[in-house]
Amino acid sequence: MKILCFLFFCLVFTTKASPVAYPLANTTNKVCGWSYWTVYIYNQINNPITVHVESGDDDLGNHTLALNDNQNWSFCQAITVKTLFYAHFYWDSKTAFFDVFDYETSKRYCTKWGFQKPRKCVWLVREDGFYLGEELTPFPEGWTKLHDW
Ligand SMILES: *[C@@H]1O[C@H](CO)[C@@H](O)[C@H](O)[C@H]1NC(C)=O
Ligand SMILES: *[C@@H]1O[C@H](CO)[C@@H](O)[C@H](O)[C@H]1NC(C)=O
Ligand SMILES: *[C@@H]1O[C@H](CO)[C@@H](O)[C@H](O)[C@H]1NC(C)=O
Repeated sequence: MKILCFLFFCLVFTTKASPVAYPLANTTNKVCGWSYWTVYIYNQINNPITVHVESGDDDLGNHTLALNDNQNWSFCQAITVKTLFYAHFYWDSKTAFFDVFDYETSKRYCTKWGFQKPRKCVWLVREDGFYLGEELTPFPEGWTKLHDW
């Protein structure tokens, strides 16, 4: 019964017409219509950087990350709607802007789908650019560079 209720909630969530992502979804309830995701952004630069993540519906605001700090957020990915998060990055006078979560990229570089398996995307922000992987493994094993500053 409990599970049915959770499923029902998720169905309601995922079929709502416009909202696409639920960053503040209660992490205890890992039942999602399709996948439950957590995205991490780790700063590996010796200076603080500022990260500003947004989606069509949510603005996670500015976060300043010191060396080795991370920002992370979780959400249900709906199979029917395109879940998309994009971010601005600021490091001194340098900036970058790109999608930090989309269907194609996450399918390729992040945790593969599994039944009710929580999935992860991990970004490493380094002086020479932005790397994506599925676990926080020691650099450079498992990382793919996708963007420059
Ligand atoms: C998340 O849900 C669980 C079970 O429904 C509840 O016990 C917990 O307090 C919730 N946590 C938050 C942060 O809302
Ligand atoms: C976020 O930080 C950037 C860079 O420091 C700044 O340009 C921008 O105005 C900030 N946005 C908000 C909403 O504070
Ligand atoms: C994820 O972010 C929260 C703050 O929002 C922090 O407390 C937590 O330690 C972070 N998770 C990891 C694995 O660092």
